[in-house]
Amino acid sequence: MGSRLPCFKRRKQVGGLWAYTKDPSMTTALPSTRALISKYTCGMSDFPMPDHYPPHLTQAQFQEYMESYAKHFDLLKDIVSRNDNDTKWRVEVTVNGVPRVEEFDKLALCHGYQTYPEMPKFECKEKFEDILMHAQQFRPEDVEKYKGKNVVMVGMSSTATDVINNIISHAANMYLSHRRGMYIFPTWRDKTPADLLLSWRRRRTGFLLQRYLPGPGASYLRPASCSVPPGASDTIIPLLQAGRLTSLHGIKRFLGPRSIEFTDGSVLDDIDAVVCATGYTADLTVAPFLSSSRPPNYSGPELLPMAVSNIFRHAHPLPSLTQMESAVDAHHAWLAARYAADTTPGSFDRSMVKSWEFQGFLHEAAGTGMENLGEPRLSWVMNHGVETAHAFRVFETGKRRAWEGAREAILRVNRDVASVDFYALRRLSLTRATNTHSPPTSPTQTQIISAQPS
Ligand SMILES: Cc1cc2nc3c(=O)[nH]c(=O)nc-3n(C[C@H](O)[C@H](O)[C@H](O)COP(=O)(O)OP(=O)(O)OC[C@H]3O[C@@H](n4cnc5c(N)ncnc54)[C@H](O)[C@@H]3O)c2cc1C
Ligand SMILES: NC(=O)c1ccc[n+]([C@@H]2O[C@H](COP(=O)([O-])OP(=O)(O)OC[C@H]3O[C@@H](n4cnc5c(N)ncnc54)[C@H](OP(=O)(O)O)[C@@H]3O)[C@@H](O)[C@H]2O)c1
Repeated sequence: MGSRLPCFKRRKQVGGLWAYTKDPSMTTALPSTRALISKYTCGMSDFPMPDHYPPHLTQAQFQEYMESYAKHFDLLKDIVSRNDNDTKWRVEVTVNGVPRVEEFDKLALCHGYQTYPEMPKFECKEKFEDILMHAQQFRPEDVEKYKGKNVVMVGMSSTATDVINNIISHAANMYLSHRRGMYIFPTWRDKTPADLLLSWRRRRTGFLLQRYLPGPGASYLRPASCSVPPGASDTIIPLLQAGRLTSLHGIKRFLGPRSIEFTDGSVLDDIDAVVCATGYTADLTVAPFLSSSRPPNYSGPELLPMAVSNIFRHAHPLPSLTQMESAVDAHHAWLAARYAADTTPGSFDRSMVKSWEFQGFLHEAAGTGMENLGEPRLSWVMNHGVETAHAFRVFETGKRRAWEGAREAILRVNRDVASVDFYALRRLSLTRATNTHSPPTSPTQTQIISAQPS
């Protein structure tokens, strides 16, 4: 408590990749991007989402929400803390273009895990003469380039959906090339945002099954035949069904200036553009001692930062070094077994964690007190109702600040969800184009160049 927390960030605006930028070297949500999970489950614990936002926020609304959060809690100052303890982190930064070195006791790198484009290595790609690029470079301002063109979209996850939504009405023909398919779920199930079908109780039941019955437990959460993580899209399936998008196998190699061979042996000779929405990797050049970085599966937007801050300020003890080393060994053995069972080369995710263990650790470290929802009046609604982050701040555990508005905020979100006419809202959200917000900029723009123990 009482420590000062400088925050270095590279973009001019608050909001991470939700702050739209025209700079094609940065990953950005597009103005047409909508959040995949609804406002009821993706807000901050002590800062309710504005009533006038639709269930799924647009890029501009997400940015606006983050901006107003930062203003409300006065986070836009650039404060620098110093101390002479010799177990510090030495951080090289440029502040408004001027380089300087800072030293810190603790350092949290939250600079995103979707920074560098993951571009497939295609055989003979130099033979192709037209557009071959990663989706990170795509901007809606350039959409005219695709007018009347034959476009192959590689990858079928959410970025592919974003780009397809922008190009489909301009392109002559649009193809979707993928290696192994994907279980695609919509952001709405009938009249309800799909994330509202999950609850704290269902999630905990899933974790219990995964821990004690790993085979059937995994298929409780996703279809048994599906080895690829599922993705959300409201448009890919309808476009495929309508014949406006054609499904293709993965790209095997390029044969000529406009010619591509696919892994099933089929060839297309009239392709003008190939856009690879094939994912991203983290930028670990700032911390070369790290080998991978990816947040574990869903933990709620603030749970991980709450846990990290409690560990930093010794409100939650870390296990002993021996215990941590043996946990790391056991985790590596688990990963190695998963790797041995993996059948698609190049697709193994070595940063995966056992959510059913890690979530418990995070809640304990964050001090949410949610392991046992003893509060009788709220217990039912917290177990079976909307999974809102307000729940993280209900119980007084002494480990983090509880919020006196949390109980009412939880009841309110649940009342809203029960009373809302989602059918009408959905129709409205599908027809309304929303990008009127022009984001204010924050006073300083800083970039971490390297961070190492000093
Ligand atoms: C287009 C898109 C849409 C998404 N939609 C969803 C969604 O609907 N729901 C969901 O749950 N997740 C979604 N995701 C996942 C996404 O990762 C999160 O929404 C979220 O933005 C991650 O936040 P973050 O703070 O970890 O990273 P980011 O939002 O990437 O923020 C990292 C920040 O660090 C800055 N930075 C990077 N390097 C440096 C440096 N060296 N020095 C200083 N600053 C630096 C960056 O400029 C950026 O501002 C989406 C991802 C993408 C790419
Ligand atoms: N809110 C939104 O609307 C929104 C928009 C964009 C992104 N996002 C989020 O941002 C994150 C990144 O999404 P993303 O779509 O950029 O990446 P991603 O989720 O990592 O998906 C990459 C896609 O590319 C495929 N792929 C990878 N290598 C390939 C290759 N060599 N050939 C063919 N296909 C290949 C993958 O499937 P295989 O490995 O099976 O081939 C997968 O379909 C996700 O968390 C996503 O939910 C959200």
